Amino acid sequence: MRINASFVVLSLVSSAAAFWRMECRGRVGLARLDPLISPGTASQHAHVIHGSSGFNADPTHEDLVNGECTSCIVKEDKSAYWTPNVYFKHANGTYQEVNQVGGMLAYYFLNKDQKNPDGKIRAFPNNFRMIAGDSTRRTYSIAGFSYLEADPAKSLWGQLGQTNQRDLEQRAVGFNCLNYNKDPEGSLQRHYLPDKNYLDANCPDGVRFEVSFPSCWNGKDIDSPDHKSHVAYPDLVLNGNCPDGFDVKLPGLFYETIWETNAFRGIEGEFVISNGDVQGFGYHGDFISGWDSDFLQQAVNTCTNLSGRVQDCPIFSLQSEDDQRSCKMATPPFIAGEKVAGLIGDSLPGGVVIQYGPGSANGDDKPQTSPVSVPVPTVGYTPGTTVTGSEYLPGGVFQESSTSTSETSAPTSFAPEVNTLGVQMQSPAPTATPTSSDGQAAGGYEIITTQYITNGNVVSKIVVVETVDYVMVPTETVTVTAAMGRKKARHGIHLRRHRDTAH
Ligand SMILES: *[C@@H]1O[C@H](CO)[C@@H](O)[C@H](O)[C@H]1NC(C)=O
Ligand SMILES: *[C@@H]1O[C@H](CO)[C@@H](O)[C@H](O)[C@H]1NC(C)=O
Repeated sequence: MRINASFVVLSLVSSAAAFWRMECRGRVGLARLDPLISPGTASQHAHVIHGSSGFNADPTHEDLVNGECTSCIVKEDKSAYWTPNVYFKHANGTYQEVNQVGGMLAYYFLNKDQKNPDGKIRAFPNNFRMIAGDSTRRTYSIAGFSYLEADPAKSLWGQLGQTNQRDLEQRAVGFNCLNYNKDPEGSLQRHYLPDKNYLDANCPDGVRFEVSFPSCWNGKDIDSPDHKSHVAYPDLVLNGNCPDGFDVKLPGLFYETIWETNAFRGIEGEFVISNGDVQGFGYHGDFISGWDSDFLQQAVNTCTNLSGRVQDCPIFSLQSEDDQRSCKMATPPFIAGEKVAGLIGDSLPGGVVIQYGPGSANGDDKPQTSPVSVPVPTVGYTPGTTVTGSEYLPGGVFQESSTSTSETSAPTSFAPEVNTLGVQMQSPAPTATPTSSDGQAAGGYEIITTQYITNGNVVSKIVVVETVDYVMVPTETVTVTAAMGRKKARHGIHLRRHRDTAH
């Protein structure tokens, strides 16, 4: 007996959940430089620096644009991207650099302001500057919440009073435990770096550090004294509503760097971020736009293929991984010869000391050089691709890197399905019902696309989430399966396309 029922048909609220993924396979330097915080001089702590070779201790926009090369895939991108790097402190007190895997990725999300869905995304003006995160932070302070608890559903953040900028800033930092034999964790799901025991036991492929930048702008200042107050987060970090006074929507930058913490499995010691933070609350990212803003605007307007591949944006000039990797900056003389890589001795670069929370490490506090209380983390593994777990999917972005060829299979075999989905999602009035893999009807869920990209022996997987709207109409079902996971079907989101057969 067939059941006639009202089925759910979706229409996309926002046609533009487009994005692209700026791969920066090379890094121009690892150095104690931070032109936003310490212009012209050595910075307090070391950073990995990606982008234009014109980077220096106090670069102008011209310096960046005139840099001979970029360590990123798109030659027109002469921006500067930097984050702290990671060290391992051996039991004997010697620090050792942790290997960075695959360079860095900077996602450019073209999400509209939710309350202004017809609005435009404005390119970064020339020389636009900003910081995400707070290097002095040593605690997680969202009212009534502990970092040991999972975030509440995003739909509750407003009611819970968790949408002030300080709260959003803390939720914009994430540490993703990598285990390529499991479904990937959600991005920005865990806001602290788990301790070494947890990493050893659960994260055999390392840790991905994530930081999302504010994407709402006051529309006039390219920088501000704290490098933050000219911008703001939308109320769900990567998407949602921009606060009053920050009505200009910029591309949403989201950095990912992978650290090979697994290389220290079984070795006694602890991981330390270069700023002396062992818990990750003080992780941060910095940006100076070295784009030509007119060119970037053209890219924002036209590079809207939902694949996220820069290869699908015809105006970008691409370069090889080798060219990205060979691009280097000139190290300023005042830090030349400083030991920042390999085994670096018994102190972090710059003499940074480890400072534990809960007080901030702002220099006024006495350094807390022994843990006051470092509870064992309990936010465990949660797969990020299940629809019902969508509260863990702020942007739904994942990146996997694997040298294994056996389990990742041939990524290209997924491409046609992904393309089908991509095209379908771009059509103005698609009629499809997402269902979760256990067959539940979707309602108020977000829709997900998944894509695999291969680069040499590295396979990357991207999952994108969109907000959807539902109306009820009578339908008949045609099944289109899209976006299957590496080897387990439960990675997948099945889309059912419905046709109106009511008449
Ligand atoms: C400390 O231990 C590491 C790892 O075994 C070793 O490489 C390093 O040389 C040691 N440092 C000193 C000063 O002995
Ligand atoms: C998007 O990119 C894919 C390749 O990844 C291509 O097949 C498709 O035609 C593109 N879509 C549009 C609308 O350009």
